[in-house]
Parts: sequence; structure tokens; C-alpha cells
Amino acid sequence: MSTASLTTAAILLIALPTVEIGGLALLSMIKRRDPGYMDNPVRQNLFRAGHAHAGVWIVLALVGMLLVDQAALSDGLKMLVRVGFAVAPILMPLGFFLSVVPARADRPNGVISLVYVGGLALALATVTLGVGLLLA
Ligand code: HEM
Repeated sequence: MSTASLTTAAILLIALPTVEIGGLALLSMIKRRDPGYMDNPVRQNLFRAGHAHAGVWIVLALVGMLLVDQAALSDGLKMLVRVGFAVAPILMPLGFFLSVVPARADRPNGVISLVYVGGLALALATVTLGVGLLLA
């Protein structure tokens, strides 16, 4: 495995406890029956989605790091794949969380755009890696 892939994988692993902290925060709000969470379906859905996508996409990014060095891609495209996989689980959850910060938010604000940017980053990374693997 290349140093770049190992370093990216290491950063992703070190970042995973932030997902656990988010999960603990959700659990705490459920246990306390926090009205800003329990009585606000928009925040509940978006907070849950933020936590879930962060965790699952970090695992997906780790799979990407295992494969990227075997793809027939230039060094630049391999770096694009690594960066795409790594930023997606940051940007999308940030969009979910930061778009409904006020406890009474009944719709996401403009920060929800980060969800689309994160989705695009993941799509670029997966499609580029997939094509690179087919060419290998
Ligand atoms: C200490 C660690 C964690 C705690 C305490 C925790 C807690 C929670 C809680 C309370 C929920 C439900 C929220 C709700 O429905 O209102 C949840 C959902 C979820 N968590 Fe975690 N979590 C943790 C770590 C993780 C990790 C590491 C991952 C992924 C790698 C993950 C993936 C998910 C997913 C996919 C859901 C959504 C399930 C659904 O919507 O049906 N969690 N978590």
C-alpha cells in the first residue's frame, strides 16, 4: 500500500471516534427526551442521517484506500480518489448537522448544500476508482 493511502486510512481511523461522540450525543438526547430532538422530526432525521453517513462512509473510504493503489490511474487521479473518499464523510454530515442548529429549526438552511457537495465527492471517487480498476 502506498504511503498516501496508509496516511489517509490512518486519518480516517483516528476520525472515527468523532462518529462515536456524535452517537453518544444522539443517545443522550434520546435518554433525556430532549424536545429539540424528540419533538422535532426534521432535526431528528437530519441528525440521524449525519451520524449514519459519517460512520458508514468512513468504512467505505477505508475500502477505497485498500483498492486505489491497484487501479490503473495517474498519481493525480489516485489522489483525487483518496481526497474524494476522505472529504465526503466530513462534508455530508456537516451539511446535515449545521443546517438545523436551532432547536426549533423546521427546515434545513443553506448549509444543506454541503450534503450535495459531499455526495458529488463520493460519486467522483467511486466512479474514478471503478473505472481505474476496470482498466487495470
Ligand atoms: C459509541 C458509538 C455509537 C453510539 C453511542 C451510537 C448511537 C446511535 C444512536 C442512538 C442511533 C439512533 C439515533 C436515532 O434513531 O435517533 C444511531 C444510529 C445509527 N448509527 Fe450509531 N452510534 C455509534 C457509533 C456508530 C458507528 C461507528 C457507526 C458506523 C460505522 C454508526 C452507524 C449508525 C447508523 C447507520 C445509524 C442509523 C440507523 C437508522 O437510521 O436506522 N454508529 N447510532
